[in-house]
Amino acid sequence: MSGPNTSYDPVEVAALDPQAVDDAVSAALVAASSAGTLDELRAARSAHQGDRSALALANREIGALPPSAKAEAGKRVGQARGRVAAAFAARQAELEAERDERILTEEAVDLTVVPPRRRVGARHPISLVTERVEDIFVGLGWEIAEGPELESEWLNFDALNLGPDHPARQMQDTFFVEPADRSGLVLRTHTSPVQVRTMLDREPPIYVLCPGKVFRTDELDATHTPVFHQFEGLVVDEGITMAHLKGSLDVFVAMLFGAGTVTRLRPSYFPFTEPSAEIDCQCWICSGTDDSCRTCRGTGWIEVGGSGMVNRRVLTASGIDPDHYTGFAFGLGIERSLMLRHGVADMHDIVEGDVRFSTQFGMEI
Ligand code: PHE
Repeated sequence: MSGPNTSYDPVEVAALDPQAVDDAVSAALVAASSAGTLDELRAARSAHQGDRSALALANREIGALPPSAKAEAGKRVGQARGRVAAAFAARQAELEAERDERILTEEAVDLTVVPPRRRVGARHPISLVTERVEDIFVGLGWEIAEGPELESEWLNFDALNLGPDHPARQMQDTFFVEPADRSGLVLRTHTSPVQVRTMLDREPPIYVLCPGKVFRTDELDATHTPVFHQFEGLVVDEGITMAHLKGSLDVFVAMLFGAGTVTRLRPSYFPFTEPSAEIDCQCWICSGTDDSCRTCRGTGWIEVGGSGMVNRRVLTASGIDPDHYTGFAFGLGIERSLMLRHGVADMHDIVEGDVRFSTQFGMEI
């Protein structure tokens, strides 16, 4: 009787049992298909395909089999390992495809995303026009003068020949400061009190431009606002006449609206000037050549402000000798100029402060 096969280990050979091999394959297939990520798949693969896996063990056992059994066992284990390898490879391909798909969506560059960089704001067109006008007059050798927005009633009215009983005093829709009869203060209704302040302050020759905010009790609507801006010009010197007023205005509009643009003076009335005139500017769109022009409504002229020779009574109230000096003054509205110049149809756009409105004007207009 031959001796026992000492290299034969029944435990290890159990690995080659067809049932055990099938079980190992099933377990490997389940592990492969249930791996949800590439990391999990890698772990499952080393458990079911690695050196210490049941199938690797079985493979090693083949060598110990008698030659007659090797072929059959080799084929069975080989096929089993082949199925497992294919299952892992297929799952690997699947998970890689999923990952690539996810990266494509998650890491896509969205060109419409607003950059985190803070956008540069914009200067308000009222500031731009004001500065432009100031530059023009400073260029002519004038100075800029300023005054308070909360103004004494005397400077806003009385000194400007608008006495308490003057009808025009009622026409200016004034914001009074309580108590109206005793505070003596108003929110200035025009920049004209700065004229008086300037004349009280200094001796002629005076060539000043007074830009600023003014207030009237108007409701905000498409063409009105209770807070708006004006600039007032004042010249007091020896021998000043209406011709100087007209010349200065013509130079100004030509610089603002383009060479060749002129003004026209139309008789009018203001208590603080005598004689007084409305200022019409020649239409800067059609120059009076287009009957259907929407800016001037076919008239060729656009009313832009008031003007006149400083009333003798105003000069006197301001401490200037009207027999020695004469002067002219004019006042223009900035909102109105802006609306006309740029076709702004609604005052709300000017006062609401939406930066998208301001950016349209850029840094210079
Ligand atoms: N102060 C006037 C106004 O606000 C304008 C004006 C200024 C008229 C200077 C004449 C001279 O309506």
